[in-house]
Amino acid sequence: MAFEKFDLTGKTALITGAAGLLGMEHAAALLESGATIVLTDISNDALHSARSLLAQKSEGAMIRLQIMDVSKPQAVQAVAEAMTLDGLRVDILVNNAAIDPKVEGAQGVLESSRVENFPLEQWNSQIAVGLTGAFLCSQVFGTLMAKDGKGGVILNIASDLSVISPDQRLYRKEGLPEDMQPVKPVTYSVIKSGLIGLTRYLATYWAHKGVRCNALSPGGVFAGQDKVFIERLSSLIPLGRLAQKEEYRSAIQFLCSDASAYLNGQNIVIDGGRSAL
Ligand SMILES: NC(=O)c1ccc[n+]([C@@H]2O[C@H](COP(=O)([O-])OP(=O)(O)OC[C@H]3O[C@@H](n4cnc5c(N)ncnc54)[C@H](O)[C@@H]3O)[C@@H](O)[C@H]2O)c1
Repeated sequence: MAFEKFDLTGKTALITGAAGLLGMEHAAALLESGATIVLTDISNDALHSARSLLAQKSEGAMIRLQIMDVSKPQAVQAVAEAMTLDGLRVDILVNNAAIDPKVEGAQGVLESSRVENFPLEQWNSQIAVGLTGAFLCSQVFGTLMAKDGKGGVILNIASDLSVISPDQRLYRKEGLPEDMQPVKPVTYSVIKSGLIGLTRYLATYWAHKGVRCNALSPGGVFAGQDKVFIERLSSLIPLGRLAQKEEYRSAIQFLCSDASAYLNGQNIVIDGGRSAL
């Protein structure tokens, strides 16, 4: 059968930051492939709405919820223990959680996003979630995957900004002085590049135990952003548009299943060709 290797029946996939825009899509993709899903995030309400939406589309699906702050080692450990108690083995870990700092206008956070004024607290909190969180989850769940000899898959969600620099012209607000211009914060590039290092490291670390680790680097997703931003970003993308949020689903299915059994330590960039320019 052509798609047999994509089948995830009998596998359990845990997604971090699962109640967000793309986390929901990753969950939908893995449900479609037959996996049992563990949705984790920091808000109970958001998790419940995520489950309701997903359940509407996949009747009879196994969807479990766990509050989990990825930046807290005890919280990650507690979820792992709860899974084990319930006889669930996490076969697939999708490190997706991130703090997405919005690039805002003059009344917003723009001055503090600039390197000259970037607050250490923001640096620490964003790295704690986007990078340290991926490490902590990989440490706990990867150790369990490696331990019983059954292996597993770790997928880190990076970004096209793991391979290119942000183009700060995208965020420019006319009429503002240079030192007030909004920018994509430095943490974003650092976290996403760091995730690629983590990916390569883990890919070789547990390879002999059957644990593969790859990264998926999505380009910008259309989510109702303002018109000027969309026009500017589209002009940097050879396909001439942002991604629809569903457009990463098949990559998720490939990367998390045996369809990619020989892929390890790679960063798959899906960005409409932006980074090829
Ligand atoms: N949306 C895009 O255009 C885009 C493009 C490239 C890469 N990405 C990456 O994809 C991933 C998902 O992005 P998104 O657009 O769905 O963002 P989002 O903000 O919608 O979702 C992120 C989720 O992470 C959760 N989160 C925040 N702090 C957390 C913590 N301490 N512990 C656990 N969860 C926490 C949030 O509650 C949220 O549900 C991120 O890693 C992001 O950088 C997004």
